[in-house]
Amino acid sequence: MEKRSSFTGKIGFIMAAAGSAVGLGNIWRFPYLAAQYGGGMFLLVYLCLAVTFGFALMAAEIAIGRKTGLSAIEAFGKLNKKWTFLGYIAAIVPAIILPYYSVIGGWVAKYLWVFVSGSGNAAANSEYFETFIGAAQEPLAWFALFIGATALIVLFGVEKGIEKVSKIMMPVLVVLSVGIAVYAVCMEGAMEGVKYYFVPNFEHFSVKTVLAAMGQLFYSMSLAMGIMITYGSYMKKENSIESSVGHIEIFDTGIAFIAGLMIIPAIYAVGNPNTDLKTGPGLMFVILPKLFAQMPGGQIIGAAFFLMVLFAALTSSISLMETVVSVFMDKFRCGRKIACVLVLVLCAILGIPSSFGNGIWASVTIIGLTFLDFFDFISNSVLMPIVAFFTCIFVGYVIKPQSLVDEIETGNMKFKKRGLFTIVIKYFAPICIVAILASSVFDVIYKLITGSSWL
Ligand code: TRP
Repeated sequence: MEKRSSFTGKIGFIMAAAGSAVGLGNIWRFPYLAAQYGGGMFLLVYLCLAVTFGFALMAAEIAIGRKTGLSAIEAFGKLNKKWTFLGYIAAIVPAIILPYYSVIGGWVAKYLWVFVSGSGNAAANSEYFETFIGAAQEPLAWFALFIGATALIVLFGVEKGIEKVSKIMMPVLVVLSVGIAVYAVCMEGAMEGVKYYFVPNFEHFSVKTVLAAMGQLFYSMSLAMGIMITYGSYMKKENSIESSVGHIEIFDTGIAFIAGLMIIPAIYAVGNPNTDLKTGPGLMFVILPKLFAQMPGGQIIGAAFFLMVLFAALTSSISLMETVVSVFMDKFRCGRKIACVLVLVLCAILGIPSSFGNGIWASVTIIGLTFLDFFDFISNSVLMPIVAFFTCIFVGYVIKPQSLVDEIETGNMKFKKRGLFTIVIKYFAPICIVAILASSVFDVIYKLITGSSWL
């Protein structure tokens, strides 16, 4: 067997894993979900899940990867033959995410162009986003550009260069976002939004909030899709899994939190909370240009901001595409080029409807969702919880938590939260996931029959 190269040291591992984790999920997805699902309530549920579920699942995945030294598809099978199927389901997730991820990546590229070309103020107009997305060709062209760039980088293996650049971009993104958030919070009227974002209102609590927060947790931390298993397989034995997980979580959650603080109070200051809170995937593109229009130097800050976001999106899309390409190469026994072409075809098939679904095909829905929302729902709210559930059962009852605790404690390392880890994996997580999944499946059926929601 080939020897796996490994990350140099702990910082290298944390940077690589955090680089994959931080992306559009934090900046684009988290704020619109928080806005939609009750602000403070969503934030509270998200944080509770992050320190329990998120922690245990990430530690488990990294430990499985490091123990076996294999990627997800083979890792489960190596530990127990009957469980190979789980690696396969996990591998489907990135293939569903990549196409619509690239549609959003295209939107980011478009907005970078708008600000660079000096027409950022025009984008502050409420209809601007709708007009953009309502046209057929333009969003498609930006989508093609984004996925094309990703494919070229993957094909020519120049990820290293991109990663170097993004290592500089990432801290700049953080500093810039903090600055924008501070400005937004200080705007007139923003306090109402700060309150909405921070103070949990129990009227907003529902099963849907929990499902949305759980899906977002998986998505944002790249869990329940085999990614962290692969990363773990490159991790050195002498590095601490427990503290690495802690660092990645703080980093990932911190950026999402700041992004929310940048966008949600601004809804109250420059937008219209009555309608904007429910905007969904377009939220960041509707609100931020309005904010930049009022900010001194806003056009330049806007351009810089969208550039950083584009890089964060590219590092994630590259890692997503790498994953899918390597699965195709293994399974279809083909070369890198052919695998790239196959992945591009898949992206076109799923991505084009996702792009049209926000505009000219907005009236075409599957179980009440537009294409983009549907792919997002299937991956985040169905497949990922299923993978997470089986991972918990697998670890909790087949290989037993102790085997991973041993892995985490390799070299006399102390696993401080082993009690929490075991309880979450064996009981808390599986029970919660089943309850949430069952109620949301029931809701879909109920809606199909009665036309209204049960939850
Ligand atoms: N976590 C990434 C984000 O927040 C998105 C993502 C999901 C991802 N799965 C991934 C990135 C796999 C890299 C690899 O945007």
